[in-house]
Amino acid sequence: MRYLPLDEITEDMCLARPIFNGDGRVLLSNGVRLTKNYLARLKEMGYQNLYVYRAGEEINDFSTPVSDQTMRDAIYGVKDAFSKAAQRQHLNIKNVNEVIGYILDEILTNPTVLYNLMDLKNHDTYYYHHSVNVCIISTLIGKQLGLPRDKVKDLATGALLHDLGMVCVDPQILTKPRELTTEEMTAVREHTNYGFQLLRSEPNLSILVAHAAYQHHERMDGSGYPKGLVGDEIHLYGRIVAVADSYETMTSGRVYRKAIWSHEAIRQLKESAPEKYDPEVVEAMARSVASYPVGSVVVLNTHEEAVVVDVNAKKITIQFASGPRVNALLDLEPDSEIKIEERLS
Ligand SMILES: [Fe+2]
Repeated sequence: MRYLPLDEITEDMCLARPIFNGDGRVLLSNGVRLTKNYLARLKEMGYQNLYVYRAGEEINDFSTPVSDQTMRDAIYGVKDAFSKAAQRQHLNIKNVNEVIGYILDEILTNPTVLYNLMDLKNHDTYYYHHSVNVCIISTLIGKQLGLPRDKVKDLATGALLHDLGMVCVDPQILTKPRELTTEEMTAVREHTNYGFQLLRSEPNLSILVAHAAYQHHERMDGSGYPKGLVGDEIHLYGRIVAVADSYETMTSGRVYRKAIWSHEAIRQLKESAPEKYDPEVVEAMARSVASYPVGSVVVLNTHEEAVVVDVNAKKITIQFASGPRVNALLDLEPDSEIKIEERLS
């Protein structure tokens, strides 16, 4: 199984991971042969990369941070929260708590889980998928930092709803398929204030949830917004969601911006600490996400090519794609002599 850009996918390939729409429904199931028509339609809808395999190729099961069912429930939960907020109605907090409960149950009980998926999202579902991913990454970071469950719960809820204030921003700006003007950027920045107002008016949410959303664009050196807070003036949840949000944004492409690879995003975020990000949080993030996610095509120090077929905190399982061991599986542990040298796609 590989994670390939749409242009590199050929008609002898099948979809390896289902594509969900914003309602959490399956738009296209795994196993579907990717005909020219499907590919053209997916491209039109704004998808950039897909998990694929060649027809007949065996694909291995791999671990994901949360089950597909939880992913679907969470995406639908965010969509519902966004649509309630857009109509200035109270959120369905019971539903939000339920979704967060599933995510926490799955992540906190799994000692080796990593964020290892690049998500399949398009412009219609971008914010829902993005929100759920930022929630999963923030939960993993909170777990790495040893926070107790009740604190991770508030952190995860703030992360899930961090961009809720986007419902108050002119949708025409948000769907522009290009970089924004300074004026438009100022309007988008207001989403932190709007999000804070919306969330703090929810009687059954901790005020810290509202603060996580309020502060997720603050930066350690005071260069962030909306308040230009410095260092510890930013609440820990705000510092965590900032790192999770930046990592997720960097690794997901938009129409006007190419995605960068996970190992490169980790490197850049480490470089931006401590000026922009809390270094302890960045370290915890680096231990929470896979440098080479499932589907990455890599070159080893033996000059062989391989595909990452599974990854957790203890080992990376690769399948050789060239050389005498082609198709064989191998577990790379931190002290293995074989190492990944570079990522090809
Ligand atoms: Fe944001």
